[in-house]
Amino acid sequence: MKVVLLPGDGIGPEVVAEAAKALVAAAPGVETAAQPIGGEALAATGEALPAVTLAACRAADGVLLGAVGSGDYSWTASNPEDGMFELRRALDVYANLRPFRDGEIDLLIVRELVGGMYFGDRGERPDGTVFDTCEYRPDQVDRLLRRGFELARSRHGRLTSVDKANVLATSRLWRERAIAMAASYPDVELDHLLVDTAAMRLVQAPADFDVIVTENTFGDILSDIAAALAGGLGVAASASLGDGGPGLFEPVHGTAPDIAGRGVANPTAAIRSVAMLLEYGLGMPAEAARLDAALDRALATVRTFDQGGVATTAEFGDAVVAALAEPLAAELADA
Ligand code: IPM
Ligand code: MG
Repeated sequence: MKVVLLPGDGIGPEVVAEAAKALVAAAPGVETAAQPIGGEALAATGEALPAVTLAACRAADGVLLGAVGSGDYSWTASNPEDGMFELRRALDVYANLRPFRDGEIDLLIVRELVGGMYFGDRGERPDGTVFDTCEYRPDQVDRLLRRGFELARSRHGRLTSVDKANVLATSRLWRERAIAMAASYPDVELDHLLVDTAAMRLVQAPADFDVIVTENTFGDILSDIAAALAGGLGVAASASLGDGGPGLFEPVHGTAPDIAGRGVANPTAAIRSVAMLLEYGLGMPAEAARLDAALDRALATVRTFDQGGVATTAEFGDAVVAALAEPLAAELADA
């Protein structure tokens, strides 16, 4: 198994270093190799996603990304973020899975990742007006909704489709397709929420949700709300999956320029993303479960500063590796 590491910018390299340690400790046979992306790549090659990086990603079994997008790149035609968008689109990883767990909260946001306003036509008119368009084809909506239904079926059987169908044509299509597809999933309970109501309900009663399925921009915003409710951005992980081909695994957080380079970032989100890589990318669910458990044990005793502690990024990573080396309670019981 081969995994490409894309450390990127800001705290990306710091958290990916710890995530790579955890990956090798959890699954010693996996090979890793790092490639440039984002601002770092733009400065070196003039491209946010160099061709060698994309080729390595296509040839890999999974891709682990840190974060992209800090620094001043106003001197180039592209942004560091373009590297991430191009990669998402090139790998066609349309289903972005963002799980959130904390106490009573156990919800999964399934965000469409390669369509909508992020990828629609944009431009400027002679009068200075600028525009970003939101477009969705029925097949783009269907493949994402199908993921949502399947994931809901594998969890608690409840799917909330979030849209703005009282205003937007794309949302009306979204709702129609969801209702049509529900006939094939009689075991899944489907409901619909307008995105503004969904934002409020998430804050008021996050434990009421199981799986939320939604378009790109709504999913971006709702997942930050969910992260705020469930431990913060330091712990929120994600998996972006297509149909076959390597998946892209990355923390939900960005480059955090305010703390970059100080060795204090929380690598939990990146390490949790490694567990998702093991589960969804490499087909190693036992190793994924072991890493998740080791991470939970480390979190119980070692805290980075965002969690009110004093541990450095590397100390936290070391604690996860140490926890991985401890035999599980179940294994001790068997012995
Ligand atoms: C995310 C991030 C990105 C996005 C940014 C950095 C462009 O916020 O993955 O949620 O909006 O997709
Ligand atoms: Mg976001």
